[in-house]
Amino acid sequence: MSNIGSFDERVRTFDWSIAERELEYTAGSGINIGWYCADRICAKGGAQKLALLWENAQGEEKRFTYDDVRVYSNAVGAFLRRLGVERGDRVCLFMDKVPELYIGAVGVLKIGAIAQPLFSAFGDESLHVRLENAGTSVIVTQRKHASKVRKILDRLPQLRHVVIVDHDGARALKEREVAFRMEAERVETLDLCPTTAESPSLLHYTSGTTGMPKGVQHVHYSLVSQYLTAKWVLDLTEKDIYWCTADPGWVTGTSYGIIAPWSLGVTQVVLDAGFSAEAWYRLIEKYRVTVWYSAPTAIRSLMKAGDELVKQFDLSSLRHLISVGEPLNAEAVVWSERVFGLAFHDSYWQTETGSIVISNYPGLPIKAGSMGKPFPGVTAGLLDVQTFEPITAPGVVGVIALRPDWPAMMRGYWQNEATYQAKFKNGWYMPGDRARLDREGYFWFVGRDDDVINTAGHLVSPFEVESALLEHPAVAESAVVSKPDPINMEVVKAFVALKPGFSPSDELELDIMNFIRKKLSPLAMPQAIEYVASLPKTRSGKIMRRLLHAKEWGEDLGDTSTIEND
Ligand code: PRX
Repeated sequence: MSNIGSFDERVRTFDWSIAERELEYTAGSGINIGWYCADRICAKGGAQKLALLWENAQGEEKRFTYDDVRVYSNAVGAFLRRLGVERGDRVCLFMDKVPELYIGAVGVLKIGAIAQPLFSAFGDESLHVRLENAGTSVIVTQRKHASKVRKILDRLPQLRHVVIVDHDGARALKEREVAFRMEAERVETLDLCPTTAESPSLLHYTSGTTGMPKGVQHVHYSLVSQYLTAKWVLDLTEKDIYWCTADPGWVTGTSYGIIAPWSLGVTQVVLDAGFSAEAWYRLIEKYRVTVWYSAPTAIRSLMKAGDELVKQFDLSSLRHLISVGEPLNAEAVVWSERVFGLAFHDSYWQTETGSIVISNYPGLPIKAGSMGKPFPGVTAGLLDVQTFEPITAPGVVGVIALRPDWPAMMRGYWQNEATYQAKFKNGWYMPGDRARLDREGYFWFVGRDDDVINTAGHLVSPFEVESALLEHPAVAESAVVSKPDPINMEVVKAFVALKPGFSPSDELELDIMNFIRKKLSPLAMPQAIEYVASLPKTRSGKIMRRLLHAKEWGEDLGDTSTIEND
């Protein structure tokens, strides 16, 4: 029997107090995610239970019990306090998937500071805009990423300390750098910051179509959603060995890679390595993974690696598979059913929603290609794309709309109230996606309602890439759109007009690609560059991305009457 039992019954009788009771939380009392992820599990007899089974690409292995997570997160909290970090300060975690990232986040939350995780593959420019916007005072990183921080230090006067978790002491520390070894001392006690439901917890940056990335502000009360969705959608139980393949630089890796499993006292596996089908199957076999939360790009890559490879491993421990981040194509569901004997269950949500809002549930029939139904306690609907009136007829495309009343919903964009307010209409929150509803209330994803590019499950802002391209000496103007890709769903494509004196060449193309990879990230790097003499513009001079996008996707170009040059 699954945790959720009867979906329909759960919908009928739903109340968030179900989770509050299990968490022994009462309205108005203290709530601190860091404490829930370690100390509470220990207090309930789980101190010696394994919390983290970690390994990296080099085959190094580490194991941490819940008591280890408790004392080492205390160590992180105490160290940051000694550096002067106070409640509400932003502490950036800029690391690969090392234990210090996971346990560090718990430590930051315990002292009431705001954890700001950033993807370690970010280049100096991506890093700079996010640290500057958040007014981050401390960044915790590894030696291998410190050079990117050094490059931008001059432009970040508010960044007081750069904590390096793997400094070997042999080399000299540079300006503002301090060395810290998480496992040097077991710190038994730490004064927990008395955070309450609305105290800020995490600040995750996400990309929009216009403007710079937005900091999505979450609070400690989000735990209530993350805990219950993990129980009912991921079906996590105390016996599970859970693997969430997402990086905590992105929201899946924190909501369901730190908070959910650890607040439930589940043992989780982390692989700090790039993708390899073989390594992934080996990991499942080795640790006897039971619940696996992954993403469509990874599933498509596994499909590409072939069925024969699957047969070389004993994957019989697997019992529940879930996917997130991009549309899960029907073929991927059918394939997983064939090779693993288990269908991937799609789940839909985003950085702003903090927890799963639409999903397929254990026990509820899956319609391959559909995202499933709203989580009990979440009211979801569709609005007309023009009038924003609710759509009830099945089969009609509309914008997804959610009543913003579940615990993990964001509380705002960091210092950007106008953009936050613009996401609401008539009491509905609009995530920026289009879908259809069928007669049985299943949601079918149609596409984004904006120009944001979703590559391998990661959102890339065309505006951010265009801004960075303009800094390349050869680029006069550019337009960035998505291009279809069989594995990553979409990749970045740049149309580039060159400055006088520069001429198109393969060498220049590579140079521009590398420029973006280093400045922004490998995800934002254009996979294709097309040289153009000029870009299509409206009469008011706005670049018509829509037109270039339609061409890439072989779509009808729509109304082109306002285009100046074609
Ligand atoms: O467009 C939707 C797509 O990813 C966006 C959210 O991205 P992000 O904030 O980075 O969070 C990703 C992980 C929670 C959504 O607005 N998306 C997410 N899940 C799905 C999806 N598109 C289709 N199907 C999904 N299951």
